[in-house]
Amino acid sequence: MVLVHTVEELQALLDGHRKSGGTAGLVPTMGALHKGHLSLVERSMRENDVTVVSIFLNPTQFNNKKDLERYPSDLEADCQLLDTLGGEIIAFAPSVQEMYPQPDTRKFSYPPTDSVMEGAYRPGHFNGVCQIVSKLFTIVKPDRAYFGEKDFQQIAVVRRMVDALALPLQIVPCPVVRETDGLALSSRNALLSPEEKKIAANIYKALSESRKLAASSSVSQVRDFVVKAINAVDGLDVQYFSIVDGKTLGEVSDWAESDDVVGCITVFCGHLPVRLIDHIRYK
Ligand code: PAF
Repeated sequence: MVLVHTVEELQALLDGHRKSGGTAGLVPTMGALHKGHLSLVERSMRENDVTVVSIFLNPTQFNNKKDLERYPSDLEADCQLLDTLGGEIIAFAPSVQEMYPQPDTRKFSYPPTDSVMEGAYRPGHFNGVCQIVSKLFTIVKPDRAYFGEKDFQQIAVVRRMVDALALPLQIVPCPVVRETDGLALSSRNALLSPEEKKIAANIYKALSESRKLAASSSVSQVRDFVVKAINAVDGLDVQYFSIVDGKTLGEVSDWAESDDVVGCITVFCGHLPVRLIDHIRYK
């Protein structure tokens, strides 16, 4: 693994690979790497000659200052983890000044994908995601970019952006990696106490049970079941649970409305509290 901090250093390394006809994969991250990130990096390494892992805590996607301040970050630990994978990895850890020499005033708008759910509760969040992801795409020019399906809505928004800007790359969604008790891996889990982590496992438990219920119940019955089951757990508080078309992210009121139906949830957990997101596919 090679660690670089500037666009110039990164592009010099990538030019070398490109001259010998190599392909490049990009795994965009905000650091605090875990096994979920590593699964994206490993997939990229299998499918490309070189993999760029960007490690950048992007300020423009945080609408809440406190959330940004307490977001876990440990570049040394991230590099050690990447080193365990061997292979052709470039870790790109730029400064805020490097990525935003001037304030980014660009506006991205892809409703309803970016205006519902996370978009409604975190105004400006997806605009910031599109700002940084589009910059990374311009700098790295990857053949493929890898995103974890845990951030289900983010993938839908990024796909819309790639289509709108006609960017010549493939978006590769990768499955959620979970703890053995079902909790989806997330950098934010580091902010939970061991006890809160156990409590948080009830989110996926309720989602999994709701999938069984879906065969014999209406959309609204399934929605009510999930919200009630999670809110009944001390330490959990559902912010929203939406059952949506997996592509447009528009809400569905009947299972027959789409053949791609996903339940997306955000739950506050624990003393801080930490906002945890997850989803389940019904169809
Ligand atoms: O999913 C994330 O960690 C971030 O939203 C991303 C894609 C790295 C952009 O900052």
